[in-house]
Formats: sequence, structure tokens, C-alpha cells
Amino acid sequence: MKNIIAISGSLRKDSYNTKVLEEIKKMIDKEVSFEILDISKVPLFNQDIENNENKDIINIKNKIKKADLVVISTPEYNYSFSGVLKNTLDWLSRGEDLVFLDKKVALISASASRFGGVRAQNHLRDVLLCMGANTLYKPEVYIAFAHDVFVDNTINDPRVKKQIINFKDNLLKEIN
Ligand SMILES: Cc1cc2nc3c(=O)[nH]c(=O)nc-3n(C[C@H](O)[C@H](O)[C@H](O)COP(=O)(O)O)c2cc1C
Repeated sequence: MKNIIAISGSLRKDSYNTKVLEEIKKMIDKEVSFEILDISKVPLFNQDIENNENKDIINIKNKIKKADLVVISTPEYNYSFSGVLKNTLDWLSRGEDLVFLDKKVALISASASRFGGVRAQNHLRDVLLCMGANTLYKPEVYIAFAHDVFVDNTINDPRVKKQIINFKDNLLKEIN
């Protein structure tokens, strides 16, 4: 079975970035596994302890390694992507296995401003380049004014919904 691993860059309970991943999970065909990882237990990276990876990091690394594709949806914090996501990526960049090397990665950002997190995604692309990822550059999805887009946990804006369906279709094309 093909499998997609998703990471939300926000730990917030009502995160729009997590909600968009949950929407995609609902849309994905049953023949494809789509798992949203929990990165809330990843400790702060410290090079002194990098050889003592805890079970969450080992688990996340194994899942990324086996994934046919990784989706990351990030908020924009101060014109960049979130610290919790960077912390997780720093852990995943270390050790013998380069888990992101040549891995297909598809990006989304959802943020409060009219720019939809474009600056966060651009920073994230740079970091993923350093990790050797094959970050897809199309379709671009920047969800602006995210607080107006989501109503009762679902996407209420038809244009955004169409973009997400197109994004989902592309994921399936990329793994088949
Ligand atoms: C520390 C912090 C910095 C932020 N900086 C930005 C920013 O630079 N650009 C932006 O569009 N939104 C910014 N925001 C607003 C976020 O886009 C908004 O809180 C968004 O809902 C976060 O994503 P989430 O819903 O997935 O948690 C910031 C929010 C926080 C908490």
C-alpha cells in the first residue's frame, strides 16, 4: 500500500494547518495510507544528546524513510515557518540515514495574513534543500486569511477547496 506521511507545523489544538491535513486525509482514496504525525513530543534538539534519539524521533524517522511522499503544512511565524517544525527537521537531518534524501515533499501553508505563509514556505524550501529533499514546486498552495476559510473544521471557501482537491489529486499522481 502506498503511504503518505503528513506533518503539521502547528501544535495548536484548532490549527488551520492541521485541519487542512485532516481534510486531505478525508479526501484520499482508501487504498492510500495518509498519516498525520504527532510532533508534540519531539524534545528540543541538542547536539549533546543527538545520539540518544528517543522513541518518538526513531518512530518519525522510520515513517519518513518508508513514506512514498511527505506533506508538510506550516503556519507562518514572524515571516518564517514554525520553530517546532524546524526543531523536528533538525532531528531528522542527523544520524546515518538521510531520511529526506530524494524524498518527495509537498508543501502547504495556512496563515492569518493575505500572503498565506509564502515567506514561511520559501524558508522551508531552503531547509529541505539542505536535507536533499525533492520538494515539489507545483501546485503552490498558500491559504491566506485562514481564519475566514475554515468553518466548523471544514474548508468553507470554494476556491481554496478546489485548490486542495487539485493538491490531493497531484499527491496521488506523484505516488503512482
Ligand atoms: C508567534 C507568531 C508569529 C506570527 N507571525 C505571522 C507572520 O509572520 N505572518 C502571518 O501570516 N501570520 C503570522 N502569525 C499568525 C498565524 O498565521 C496564525 O496564528 C495561524 O493561525 C497559525 O497557524 P495554525 O492555525 O496552524 O496554528 C503569527 C502567529 C504567531 C503565534
